[in-house]
Formats: sequence, C-alpha cells, structure tokens
Amino acid sequence: MNSMKANIKKIAVLTSGGDAPGMNAAVRAVVRSSVYYNLDVYGFYKGYDGLINGDIEQLQVRSVSNILSRGGTFLLSARSDEFRTKEGRAKAYENFKVNDLDALVVIGGDGSFTGADVFSQEYDVPVLGIPGTIDNDLAGTDFTIGYDTACNTATEAIDKIRDTASSHERLFFVEVMGRDAGFIAVNSGISGGAVAMLLPEHNWGIDDLIRRLQRGASNQKASNIVIVAEGCKLGSAYEIAAKVKAQLDYFDIRVSVLGHLQRGGSPTTSDRVLASRLGVAAVEGLLNGESNVMVGVVNSNVVYTPINEAVKTIKKIDADEFRIAKILSI
Ligand code: F6P
Repeated sequence: MNSMKANIKKIAVLTSGGDAPGMNAAVRAVVRSSVYYNLDVYGFYKGYDGLINGDIEQLQVRSVSNILSRGGTFLLSARSDEFRTKEGRAKAYENFKVNDLDALVVIGGDGSFTGADVFSQEYDVPVLGIPGTIDNDLAGTDFTIGYDTACNTATEAIDKIRDTASSHERLFFVEVMGRDAGFIAVNSGISGGAVAMLLPEHNWGIDDLIRRLQRGASNQKASNIVIVAEGCKLGSAYEIAAKVKAQLDYFDIRVSVLGHLQRGGSPTTSDRVLASRLGVAAVEGLLNGESNVMVGVVNSNVVYTPINEAVKTIKKIDADEFRIAKILSI
C-alpha cells in the first residue's frame, strides 16, 4: 500500500454478539496486518463489556498463532446490555481515550454494528466493522464469516437424520438457527434435499407444506425432511410438526432442533479465507481513511459499506435458490 491517508497508529479489535466460526481467523488477520503496517494493536475481551470495563491486552504476532482452525473466539464475546445505554458508551469512550486508541475494529453481526454506529457517531470514533455471524443477514457482503461453516454443520446433521428417516420412512422437522433470516435454512435445505424450507421471511400458511407432503406420499417418497428456521412465523419445529400431524395422521413424525452446535466447530476453508481477507482489508481501510463502514466481499471484490446501511438494508434470500429447491424436491 502506498497511499496511507489516515493518521492511525494504535487500534483495538473486539468480537461481539453471537460467536461465529472464523472470528479467530479474522482477529489473527487484523493483528498480523496491523503489525505488518507498523501499528500497535490491542484486543478487548468480552466484546463491548471489555471496552466498558477496560479489559484490554496488547496483541503481538505470536498472540494469534495456531488459532486459524479454532471455532469460537479467543477474545470472548458478549451481547452487552450496558453498551446500549448512554452511560455505558460514555465509559467505553473513556477507555478508548485512556488507552490512546485511534480506531476500533468490531467483528460481529447486526446488533454489534448498530452499537458501533451509535458509538462512532456520538464520539467521532473511527470504527470498522467485519461481518461475523452465522446468519449471513448483513447487506454489503455476499457472505458473513461463519455462515459457510454453519451451513456445512447443518448439512452434515441433516445427512445423518436422513439415514434414520429413510430407515423408518419418517417425516422429520429439523430446526436450524436464524431468528430473522432463513439463509442457513435455504442453503442446508438444498444441500440436504429437504422437501420444504420454512423461513422467517415468509408469511405463508401451512397449506403449501401439506400439499407437498401429500404429493410425496402419493409418489412413493419414503423419507421427508422439512427445514424450519428458528424464526419461522408458523411456529417452532415442534409446533409445526403438531399442526401437520393433526392433518396428516399417517406420517410418523420426529423433530430435531440443531441449536448451538451450528455456532461451533473448526471453520471451513471458505470461512478462513474470507476472514483473512476481511481482516487485512479492515486494517487497510482504516489506514486509507475509511470510518464507520463495514468491509465485505461482493462478487469477489472487497467493498466498504456504511455500517448503518449494512444493518438497515434487508438482505434478501436468493429467489432463484428457493425456486430450484422447489423444483428439486418433488
Ligand atoms: O446471531 C446468531 C444466532 O446464532 C442466531 O441464529 C440465533 O437466533 C441467536 O444467535 C441465538 O443467540 P444466543 O447466543 O443468545 O443463544
């Protein structure tokens, strides 16, 4: 890099919100690229709580050795209630100043970025966001760190459920994570050959599902897997299973809630590469004067999007993916 526009000498990084596989790889990339560009780099522990309480440590090149392959986040994470308050953010700014920091890198999802946006505007602090959430629900990037790993974990679980479902000719409802977004549900549903995916984004009734199940039953379909995203408007996987049983008594139904196992595990190659790319691009962005933006990858290119835009713009499920899923599950 030749043209360094901003006078940034000391930065801090934190991980916030729900952890996601690949967060460690992102921290490693932030730390190593900072050292490469002769910056001092610090880590706050436990997300914004660490910023508020001054839980900080200087990180060196070797502080981040051998963490590429580890799930979770060695910096620890939290959903900070205190940071939502003006008083909490005032304490956070005190620590930012006391430690003589020039910029903050936040690795997290929409909740963490909403906080980052408010903080950056209140105190004119240069903040750079790196999208780390299994939900993939941030605009300004094609993929968030952790999403690919979570989808692979869900697919592996669905494959195992398929084995037992076909042995007993059963109908399974598999609940995957996603309170507000159905990306994991669609992706793992396609790769696991689900008969239907029920998403938070959809306001449909249960009739379409009933029709699809009836059609399969009349067409020698031996096992059925329905993916239910956590935030589905029709209810939880258990509630939907009960509604289906009430109408289609002949199905032998079981329910499996995958839960937090989707948040853990060693990150996939894609997530490690994405995290590495975004970590370096975050530091380079700060050096180039970027502030209050989220760094993402769109069509294979690094892009910087205003944080509030990344949070507020609703990222839509790919209609074509949903269409092909319907074609293939007949
Ligand atoms: O944002 C990631 C996510 O795993 C969501 O899919 C899920 O709804 C939520 O976090 C669960 O959060 P918690 O950590 O509070 O259990």
